[in-house]
Amino acid sequence: LNYRVPRTRKEIFDTLVKGLQRLEYRGYDSAGVAVDGPWKDVKDDNNNSICLIKKRGKVKALDEELYKKDSMDLEEVFDTHFGIAHTRWATHGEPSAVNCHPHRSDKNNEFVVIHNGIITNYKELKKYLSSKGYEFESETDTEVIPKLIKYVYDNCERDDISFSTLVERVIQQLEGAFALVFKSIHFPDEAVATRRGSPLLIGVRSKYELSTENIPIQYNNGHFKEALKEKNSRNRSDSSTGLHSVGDGKAVEYYFASDASAIIEHTNKVIYLEDDDIAAVAAGKLSLHRISRLAGEDPSRAIQTLQMELQQIMKGNFKAFMQKEIFEQPESVFNTMRGRICFDTNTVVLGGLKDHLKEIKRCRRLIMIGCGTSFHAAVATRQILEELTELPVMVELASDFLDRNTPVFRDDVCFFISQSGETADTLMALRYCKDRGALTVGVTNTVGSSISRDTVCGVHINAGPEIGVASTKAYTSQFVALIMFSLMMSEDRLSLQMRRLEIMNGLRVLPELIREVLALDDKIKSIADELYQQRSLLVMGRGFNYATCLEGALKIKEITYMHSEGILAGELKHGPLALIDKQMPVIMIIMRDACYTKCHNALQQVTARQGRPIILCCQDDPEIAKNAYKTIELPQTVDCLQGILSVIPLQLMSFHLAVLRGYDVDCPRNLAKSVTVE
Ligand code: G6P
Repeated sequence: LNYRVPRTRKEIFDTLVKGLQRLEYRGYDSAGVAVDGPWKDVKDDNNNSICLIKKRGKVKALDEELYKKDSMDLEEVFDTHFGIAHTRWATHGEPSAVNCHPHRSDKNNEFVVIHNGIITNYKELKKYLSSKGYEFESETDTEVIPKLIKYVYDNCERDDISFSTLVERVIQQLEGAFALVFKSIHFPDEAVATRRGSPLLIGVRSKYELSTENIPIQYNNGHFKEALKEKNSRNRSDSSTGLHSVGDGKAVEYYFASDASAIIEHTNKVIYLEDDDIAAVAAGKLSLHRISRLAGEDPSRAIQTLQMELQQIMKGNFKAFMQKEIFEQPESVFNTMRGRICFDTNTVVLGGLKDHLKEIKRCRRLIMIGCGTSFHAAVATRQILEELTELPVMVELASDFLDRNTPVFRDDVCFFISQSGETADTLMALRYCKDRGALTVGVTNTVGSSISRDTVCGVHINAGPEIGVASTKAYTSQFVALIMFSLMMSEDRLSLQMRRLEIMNGLRVLPELIREVLALDDKIKSIADELYQQRSLLVMGRGFNYATCLEGALKIKEITYMHSEGILAGELKHGPLALIDKQMPVIMIIMRDACYTKCHNALQQVTARQGRPIILCCQDDPEIAKNAYKTIELPQTVDCLQGILSVIPLQLMSFHLAVLRGYDVDCPRNLAKSVTVE
């Protein structure tokens, strides 16, 4: 939404499409935009009209569609313009143009809305609105929102109501999770956005100096009169009214987005909205509203400066973001450790945890909670956490943890591991543990995310933005962050000092060893050449490398669509052995650690059934090599860090398999990177 920075329609389209492309990893089955413009010759009395353009498929398909509209003058210049755009990951209703966002109130597009999240009471709302004569065209939960706002608008004293008050009334009826942005022909050049449960931020761009003051919130107390007052004061630039303006309202652009990567090329100044905040931009000024003030609530929101750089979210010379992120691991792992480890004194300081360390040390147990890859990071570090903290450690999939109503107590410490910091299942588990009085710790890659803000303390893993849907560098950084936590917890245990020293030395050379593993890329590609037409791929190991099996198998199924299973080698004889024959490809991880002999036994059992194992093993292990169909030899490190090295060949393998099978590595079918619905 720009004020007095004239933009052509083409520039507006470009801005929206580029923003969507940066967010595409969140969903890519269909995409749409709403902009000012001719819409089937429908205009209101004031000549306002909104044009909706939607397309099934990736954002690229939408981009092409935008330029097909003959009736749209791409060179038309707008002094002020508010456009909205959305890329979808289907929850309710198949991917199709009609189910795609923006959704509209009626055929005249009086109100249009985009939504991230899920409306759980949409059936009741739909029934009510249908009974009032509102006709629905899609199968989505979202469509109740534009219908509802029109219903509220149609049933109020129209002259007096502000756009933000309408939205305030709408969200009072909604249950579930949402980030919403509204546009309306009745409020041309105004923007209203709100959130509950799903992330939303506002970017502010201006060539003028931005005030560093916090933006005060206006409390509407839900009363119509208050809303009236607010409307009358809308054009005043007095900061005491809670209106934020820059450079006297001139030359400002505001951006609303689910995450910072969509807007970072325009500005690094952002405001993170809290649940139930309503943000409105009108006449060049931003105002923040809430229905009422809760006790202890911060009555303002800060403008923050992001550290992210555009470069970090560009693909560079790599074929895919996933490939780039795999190769970034020497640096991303280093960045996780940067400034936190002192090798001279053998100490680790995680700034976000140090004030709570005493309390954590007194706890009854540690519960590590996450989904997908983040859960695997917990599995990977559980053993060393148990060893160095001498505490019971539970590792939990967030969904299952909630399904079981797992008992949680005040003296538990619960870790929430999440790359995005927004995964709905993990967030629900966080709320569950908070309600039970446990100390909550976030381990996320996303500064300002819901998990990083809602936990009492935590660690940012600092891996840099991860765009590829299949998580790679976030996993190894989560791994390192949790190892650092275990080192911090054991600093004063005399009996553990030798062990700590060994791990610290391992961490010191880790980036170098990762580089050595990455140099095996050609060899891994040649193995992928042999495997890519297979239907199935087993990955087997135990002990410190079991998590690598789970994570490797997840990578393979996510992006190659091959069936793949991570098998605990100790369970081989209890079932999986039945799968082994000379056709079934099996990757085994056999490192020189406490499980070496047991893994060797598993290898014998596999070869005795004519299995032809590809073995990830340590360099110079002739005993293993002679039983292997192929080997991938890795540098040896400390047992508890070996999983960081052993996962990388499987990340590379899944990448090559997906490319050879002709799939889009960064956009695997049916998946999204950040799953903000339960
Ligand atoms: C989704 C992604 C996975 C990811 C999981 C947890 O399922 O597709 O790649 O591991 O969410 O995401 P988080 O952001 O919480 O780590």
